[in-house]
Amino acid sequence: MFISIVGAQFGDEGKGKITDFLAKQKDLVVRWSGGSNAGHTIKFNNKEYKLRLVPSGVFKDTDLLISGNAIVDPILLNEELTYLASNDFVAKLYVDEECIVSLPIHKKIDARNDMILNIGTTKSGIGPTVSDFAARIALKIKDVLSGDYKEKLRNLLKIHTDYLEEEYEENLKALELLKTIPVTYVTRECARTDFIYASRYTNVIFEGAQGTMLDINHGTYPFCTSTATISSAIPYVMGMGYDFPEISIGVFKPYVTRVGNGAFKTEILEGSVKEHLQTLGKEIGTNTGRTRRVGWLDLYDLKQAKELNDFNSLAITKLDVLTGLDSIGVLDTRKNWWNFNGWQTDITNCKNYDALPSAAKELIDFISKSINTPIETISVGADRTQTIER
Ligand code: IMP
Ligand code: MG
Repeated sequence: MFISIVGAQFGDEGKGKITDFLAKQKDLVVRWSGGSNAGHTIKFNNKEYKLRLVPSGVFKDTDLLISGNAIVDPILLNEELTYLASNDFVAKLYVDEECIVSLPIHKKIDARNDMILNIGTTKSGIGPTVSDFAARIALKIKDVLSGDYKEKLRNLLKIHTDYLEEEYEENLKALELLKTIPVTYVTRECARTDFIYASRYTNVIFEGAQGTMLDINHGTYPFCTSTATISSAIPYVMGMGYDFPEISIGVFKPYVTRVGNGAFKTEILEGSVKEHLQTLGKEIGTNTGRTRRVGWLDLYDLKQAKELNDFNSLAITKLDVLTGLDSIGVLDTRKNWWNFNGWQTDITNCKNYDALPSAAKELIDFISKSINTPIETISVGADRTQTIER
């Protein structure tokens, strides 16, 4: 079975947690989009782990594949594998050599561009890497593996005329790291036939990055990321014809957060609720350390996300963060405001749906009916065990 897990809001919905929870050892977890701009947090056995590029299946010992439109920053990948190894996790990682490489130069350009554009990017170089890809000057991993990269790097630096020779050595070093990283490189065809379509996996889980509203085509352009984030992009970037994942899971929080600039209809600009959500939700960017903007749940956007991704299952995360609020605001699919009663009892140890307070169940049922999609996974805490399946 092919399963897609994407964010239904502006990223940081908890895709990493849900991917880790659902993945079984005999699965393949594929990272197919985005790059080091992502940040996934996974917690189990009282320890918290943070990933940016390696698929979240690593903690369940699944096979892992980076492919499609995922963007590989060699320095970050190397650091992440070292970090995992130092925590005794061996990543069984396959990397598609068609993936685009992101270099130190791209980070510099990102930082400079964003001073002018003020999108509030993560400064990880994603935008400039993707524009170099579209301009056909970016390097692919296979260029490095085949030895055909020095002139290509020089051309890339020449085109970015502000950065000439003095940048060469640093970027060359980053490229050459690819030759020493402990991963297995595969061709795109092999990624498809020997991994995606290999019968040895029970499920192939396509782990999304960022969120639906940050999609380059369907998000809040120009305040969005530079790649596709929605599930319908999976067959295209993987080269799978019309083979869409049978299960399309949308991960969302019962409130909304956004890092970076751009419109935010339900934003809470000040007051105790804002502080409550930011503090209890630990709404601070995994990568950038920026405090996230927060707001009430927006079902109008969530319905758009359902249509864009054809969700047939929803996973709600961070339900516990709402505990203690007197009243919970919700913008419905027709843009009318609702206020739901809050609840005061701790839900972080609830093991099944029935054990939740009735106010929480009312909220969940309202969301599910509004979006016309079952909410099959409910997260009531950061730990892997704090997850309810329905
Ligand atoms: P970029 O992807 O770094 O170019 O950033 C573009 C926009 O997407 C900014 O608003 C970022 O804050 C946002 N963004 C990018 N990646 C993530 C993510 O993984 N989670 C949340 N926001 C993200
Ligand atoms: Mg994140």
